[in-house]
Amino acid sequence: MAARVASPLSCLCLCLALFLISLWLPFATPRRLEEESSSSMSARFEQWMALHGRQYMDAREKEQRSQIFEENLKFIDSVNAEGRPYKLSANKFADLTNDEFRVTRMGFKGHECAARASDAPFMYANVSAPTSMDWRKKGAVTPVKDQGQCGCCWAFSAVAAMEGIHQIKTGKLVSLSEQEVVDCDTKGEDQGCNGGLMDDAFKFIINNHGLTTEAKYPYKAVDGTCKKASSIAATITGYEDVPTNNEKALLKAVTSQPVSVAIDASGYEFQFYSGGIFTGNCGTELDHGVTAVGYGTSGGTKYWLVKNSWGEQWGEAGYIRMQRDVASKEGLCGIAMQPSYPTA
Ligand SMILES: *[C@@H]1O[C@H](CO)[C@@H](O)[C@H](O)[C@H]1NC(C)=O
Repeated sequence: MAARVASPLSCLCLCLALFLISLWLPFATPRRLEEESSSSMSARFEQWMALHGRQYMDAREKEQRSQIFEENLKFIDSVNAEGRPYKLSANKFADLTNDEFRVTRMGFKGHECAARASDAPFMYANVSAPTSMDWRKKGAVTPVKDQGQCGCCWAFSAVAAMEGIHQIKTGKLVSLSEQEVVDCDTKGEDQGCNGGLMDDAFKFIINNHGLTTEAKYPYKAVDGTCKKASSIAATITGYEDVPTNNEKALLKAVTSQPVSVAIDASGYEFQFYSGGIFTGNCGTELDHGVTAVGYGTSGGTKYWLVKNSWGEQWGEAGYIRMQRDVASKEGLCGIAMQPSYPTA
């Protein structure tokens, strides 16, 4: 038998042999593979640094950041491999530990707040809610902003809700000044970049007879001295808390206008969220102020559409869709615990 034609059987054998070799290979050459993965890890870090224009003081800091990046990347890859309804990515926060991240990107001081009873009457109690809502489509939401390294989420949350009610009442969408709130609102819990409360921001805005525009009093991401604003661009007359721990009430409120909500955004999953419907993990230690600007259902899962203030590179172009109507009354990440909205 000189001439050989590959029979189906010998082909099958060859495939099987190759398959077995491929199974065995990783064990046979562990060192080579490890080196490869660490070099691909450092390549991913270099790519990430270039993409985000990140520079470090010296080689030591770069090495330290590279290690944090590597740990974060392992976490991100492992979560993404689980097939959860949301994805994570090595976003601009990928060289920060979760502790570092929490210190500077949040700033809601919720724990002292007295909440409104879950069955309390409120102005939207009798509103009937459609199956979905997106205030962006109605022109009531300004582009996503970026609070930077300043814990004044509370100002961004309050201002976004105010921009919403102002557009609903006047038909004009005006980007308003968070910096005016950060610099000038120093009463009560509100301490600029060191945190504050949306309700206290509303109180300040009422006493201040409104706010000026973002353009006239631009955002600086630091505590500054209060400058008397040259003109008022929008006003509010009051504010109201949504009954607490009541996602049905929150639905009625969000149907009616964008609503300030406080959430627990301290988790690693939240830090690296890049898209899909976020289902956790998170607790209910409220530490971040954001704005609910809609809701809907996707693939059978109900969600809240939430505007964040971490720039457009985070999440879904700056937004997160968070699971709605969860088993716990507080809502996912405590979203139903302390919602409120300004009135105009
Ligand atoms: C909602 O309806 C109830 C019952 O009809 C009524 O007592 C209440 O005043 C209404 N609330 C508002 C805010 O309209």
